[in-house]
Amino acid sequence: MNLPDLLDTLAKKSDRHLSDLVEWLKIPSISSDTSRRTETAAAADWVAAKLQQAGLATELIPTHGHPMVFAETPAVPGAPVALVYGHYDVQPVEPIDQWQSPPFEPTVRNGNLYARGATDDKGQLLTHVQSVCEWLATGQPLPLQIKFLIEGEEEVGSENLERMLPELRDRLACDCVVISDSSQYADGQPAITYGLRGIATYELEVNGPSQDLHSGSFGGAVMNPAIALCHLLSSMVDREGRIQIEGFYDDVIELSQAERDAWAKLPQSDEAFAKSVGVSELFGEKGFTSDERRWARPTFDINGLQSGHQGEGVKTIIPATALAKFSFRLVANQDPVQLTAAIERHLQQHAPTGIRYTLKPDHGAPGMLANPQSKFAVAASQAIESAFGVAPVMIREGGSIPIVTRFQDVLGCDCLLMGWGLSDDNTHSPNEKFKIQDYHRGIAASAILWDELGKLSESK
Ligand code: BES
Ligand code: MN
Ligand code: MN
Repeated sequence: MNLPDLLDTLAKKSDRHLSDLVEWLKIPSISSDTSRRTETAAAADWVAAKLQQAGLATELIPTHGHPMVFAETPAVPGAPVALVYGHYDVQPVEPIDQWQSPPFEPTVRNGNLYARGATDDKGQLLTHVQSVCEWLATGQPLPLQIKFLIEGEEEVGSENLERMLPELRDRLACDCVVISDSSQYADGQPAITYGLRGIATYELEVNGPSQDLHSGSFGGAVMNPAIALCHLLSSMVDREGRIQIEGFYDDVIELSQAERDAWAKLPQSDEAFAKSVGVSELFGEKGFTSDERRWARPTFDINGLQSGHQGEGVKTIIPATALAKFSFRLVANQDPVQLTAAIERHLQQHAPTGIRYTLKPDHGAPGMLANPQSKFAVAASQAIESAFGVAPVMIREGGSIPIVTRFQDVLGCDCLLMGWGLSDDNTHSPNEKFKIQDYHRGIAASAILWDELGKLSESK
C-alpha cells in the first residue's frame, strides 16, 4: 500500500466522510428508550450496509435486546488480528430545551458537528469504518485482518454482549481490541488511554406509610421515607468523598509513584478545569490531584432522586416512598458483586426503624488496566503522532466501557484505547459535539495504524 496516496484520497473525500456521519447521526438510536426499538435497529442496519458495500463479510447478530453488527476482512496469515469495538447506541437527549439545534439534526457550528452520538460513539467509531472502507477501495489488501464488533447496548451496560461473549469467542478471536470511545487529553494533545474505571449502579427505594400523610397531623410520629433515604445516602460517603462502606477500599490498587510522576507532568490547570464545568472550587479526596481523583480513585455519586411533591407550590406531606439512583466508579481489582453484598450489610446497619427498603443492583463492570508499553500501544503512538503532528500522552480516564475487561479475560487480547474526543464534547448532555478536524485526523490515524500493525507481522 502506498500510504501517502491513501492519505491523499482520505483528504479529498473528507466531505463525503462527513456526510456519512451526518446520515448516521440522524438515526435516533437511544438504546434505553423502548419506543425507539425500530430506529435503534436502523442504526445497526446503516453501519452493516456500509461495511458490506465495502466488501467485508458482514452479519447482523440478534440479541435479546438490540442487534450487534459483526464484520471482517480476510485472514492474513502471520499478521496480527485487530478487533474494532464500538457502539451505535446513544444516551437520551433530555433536557431537550437546552439543545441549540435538535439532537438528531446534525448541525455544523464553529468547526464542530453537533448531534447526540457525534463523539459518543458514532463519530469516533466511524473513523475506523471509513479507514477500512477507503483502504479496500484502493484494491490493495489490508496488511492484517480487521474485525468489527459494533453493539447497540453499551449505554445500558452491554449485558447481552457479555452473556453471548463465550459463544462468540472464536469469531472475535484477536490479538488486540481497538476502541475509540474516549478522549484526547486536551485540544491538540492526543492520548492513549490505558485504564478506565469500572462501575456499579443501584436503585434504592424506601417505603413508609401506605400512602402520603398530612405532615401536620402525623409528622414527628411517623418516620419520613425521604428523610430516611437522605440519612442512608449520606451515611455512605463523607464530606470529602471518602466512601464509608466497610471494606470498600480493601481491594483498591494504590497509584504507583511512577504513574503519579508521569501524570504530574501533564499540562493541567485546576482553575481552568473548574471554570470549564462552571464550579467555583474543585472537590475530592485529600492528597490527590484532579486527574488522580477522576482516573484512579473510586467514587460514590447520586444520579437521581425522587420523592414527595414535585409540582408547583407547597404540599405538606410525609411522602409514602422515596427513591434514589446511585452509582460507584470502581478501580481495577474492585469487584462489583462483592460491593453489592457490602452495601446490603451497610444498609442493614444504618436503616432507621419504621421503614422498609429495597436495593436493586443494575449493571456492574470492573475497572480496566492495559499495558501502556505494549507493541500495539507503540504502533498506535506512531500512527497518532503522524496524523495529529503531536505524540500522544499516556492517560487513564474515569468513564467505563463495561465489556472491555471481559474482552481481556475471555479473548485473552490486549486493549488499545485511542480517544478522538475532547473533554468539553458534552457527552451524555445537551449539545454533544465532535470537532470535525478530529474526525478527519482520526480517520487518518486509523489508516496509519493498520499500516503500523501490519509491520508487526511474523515475516517482517
Ligand atoms: N464512552 C463512554 C465511556 C467513557 C467516558 C470512556 C469517558 C472514557 C471517558 C461510554 O459510552 C459510557 O458512557 N459508558 C457508561 C457506562 C454505563 C452506562 C454502564 C459510563 O461510563 O457511564
Ligand atoms: Mn461511548
Ligand atoms: Mn456514553
